[in-house]
Amino acid sequence: MKKIVVSASSLPAGRNMSSQIEYLARVGNFGADMYHFDVMDGTYTKNKSADYTYIPQLKEGSTLLFDCHLMVNEPQKVLNKYAKAGANILSVQYEVFLDKKDLIKTLKKIKKLGMMAGLAVDLNTDIVEVDKFIKYVDLVLIMSVKAGKGGQPFDKSAIKKIKHVRQMNPNVLIEVDGGINDVTGAKCVTAGADILVSGNYIYNNDTYEAIQGLKGKNG
Ligand code: DX5
Ligand code: ZN
Repeated sequence: MKKIVVSASSLPAGRNMSSQIEYLARVGNFGADMYHFDVMDGTYTKNKSADYTYIPQLKEGSTLLFDCHLMVNEPQKVLNKYAKAGANILSVQYEVFLDKKDLIKTLKKIKKLGMMAGLAVDLNTDIVEVDKFIKYVDLVLIMSVKAGKGGQPFDKSAIKKIKHVRQMNPNVLIEVDGGINDVTGAKCVTAGADILVSGNYIYNNDTYEAIQGLKGKNG
């Protein structure tokens, strides 16, 4: 049985440092494998969230890998800051690079800084557009909601995208993000996903049960 990696989204815990510390400890204690640190600065999305300044203190109390999802324009400006703060995975949005040469440069720089490079593909982007960039990344982050907020319903168009990326590359890690629960998560894993991001489903339910459910361990 394939090991399903669960990456709990930081978004529901908000921008208050103590609630972030408490939530990170809770998801870590109840089996999450990574912390999906969602970053919004009001440029690519209208909402704003916690940013790299929170990471050092958060990492003091947790051994979870920080799976950072930068929903920001010009992410190249902050790569060093996330590397220094302790990010382990850094995913940038495909859509913010008008010149795709900058995208390749950014993905190479993320790796040079010692982090795993992820390419996040938003809901309305045609997945074939990213085919030629898969060789530069460790991970493709497929959005199953429009990037910008938690609690949105899963968009099943993500399933076809997962299958496409899996078919293009048997080894790249595939992470899915948005509206993931035990039912939608199982469909994503069957389609080829390795990592499930979940925000509201974990936050609004019993932490242990929700994480076990995402791992396909309930029932
Ligand atoms: C949305 C974020 C997601 C979101 C997931 O822009 O990238 O990570 O927090 O939250 P749920 O699981 O509630 O859709
Ligand atoms: Zn995210």
